[in-house]
Amino acid sequence: MNQMKKSRTAVLNIGLLATPEGRQAKAGAEQGLIRILKDAYVLAEDGVVVAVGTGQPDAQWMKGADAVDAAGRLVTPGLVDAHTHLVFGGWRAHELQQKLSGVPYLEILAKGGGILSTVRETRAAGEDALAEKAGLALDGMLGQGTTTAEAKSGYGLSLGDELKQLSVVKRLNRSHAVDLVPTLMAAHAVPEEYRADRRAYVDLVIKQIIPAAAGEGLAEFCDVFCETGVFSPEEAREILLAGQRAGLQSKIHADEIDAIGGSELAGELGAVSAEHLIAMRDSGISALKAGGVIACLLPATSFYLGKPYARARGLIAAGVPVAVASDFNPGSCPSHSLQLCMNLASWQYRMQPEEILTAVTLNAAAAIGRAETVGSTEPGKLADLVVWEADSLDYLMYRFGSNLARAVLKRGKVVAGRL
Ligand code: NIG
Ligand code: FE
Repeated sequence: MNQMKKSRTAVLNIGLLATPEGRQAKAGAEQGLIRILKDAYVLAEDGVVVAVGTGQPDAQWMKGADAVDAAGRLVTPGLVDAHTHLVFGGWRAHELQQKLSGVPYLEILAKGGGILSTVRETRAAGEDALAEKAGLALDGMLGQGTTTAEAKSGYGLSLGDELKQLSVVKRLNRSHAVDLVPTLMAAHAVPEEYRADRRAYVDLVIKQIIPAAAGEGLAEFCDVFCETGVFSPEEAREILLAGQRAGLQSKIHADEIDAIGGSELAGELGAVSAEHLIAMRDSGISALKAGGVIACLLPATSFYLGKPYARARGLIAAGVPVAVASDFNPGSCPSHSLQLCMNLASWQYRMQPEEILTAVTLNAAAAIGRAETVGSTEPGKLADLVVWEADSLDYLMYRFGSNLARAVLKRGKVVAGRL
């Protein structure tokens, strides 16, 4: 039989390799316990890590391998962005003046703007245009170190338009280096045409959109915006349970603006993750802990909405695993910079650099069901790596406002930046 030779990549002269370890989210003190190797190398075959060590790798193995010289820099696993609304039409710069004059986010939405304005533009856009625009965002994310991302629908709010968004995610997952994990978020808002009969929309989501998205294999997760004036905890429960019956695991936008029971519901339903948690009550923390839910915190959204920052230290102290993600979307967070989120996690969440690394790699991977394959640099996982223009994790968290990703590797190949 014709044995195909495996493609080999060796990342050499790593000044500092910093990575969490394992295939599950880390909580409590363990979130800050990472592996640090000085003068290290990483070896990969066909895009998968086969060895991690210090000094020089075996000369025999190196024959025919592509060598990537990290020249003494910091290397970490590729970043995982566990929460994005990647695919949308238009932007919302037209809301800037309203926001500056203090009009609240939910008031803009209640008047038919906000998410609903993006729904109009997303419905009007074709798949090609949506893919082109989201692809540009993905280029930017990859260049800043993101190698895997979650992508939600939720700007279609009709059967056809939700499936259109998810089809764009599927297409980009095939064509772009960044791996994508699709989430159905048909319950992002009640569309204008159902305003007089919201129950009919909830039924549409449960009876048609969820079965179709799950049946066509276009989504892995189901997410609901559980918020004052959007979806109540009772509606969210019904929708998430319908998702679970169709094989979609649960996520929930909870306590972003008001604590109306979203995090408690996440615990009750055993959601994989609960997102935002800005206004979370103590009962929310205990529910997440009891339900084994990952807290997915979105600090750039707090920044952009001028809201408080979620209680990351309280969650860590309670033993809830914390992931940090971008929430990239046109309304509450028009930025896909996970590096900015890492800075905010330092200064606003008061998380330690090691805890933050785990939050944007292993815990983020676990929050989107990918902890078996990404989120840490160890044998058996993808050789997704970032070579940083930095010599320590402290330096990475200390600098802000410029891109410190020097080169990004996906499956053992340099796909962004250069060395
Ligand atoms: O996570 N809160 C709901 N969804 C997004 C915002 C979407 C939008 O404003 O377009 C969020 O903040
Ligand atoms: Fe979001």
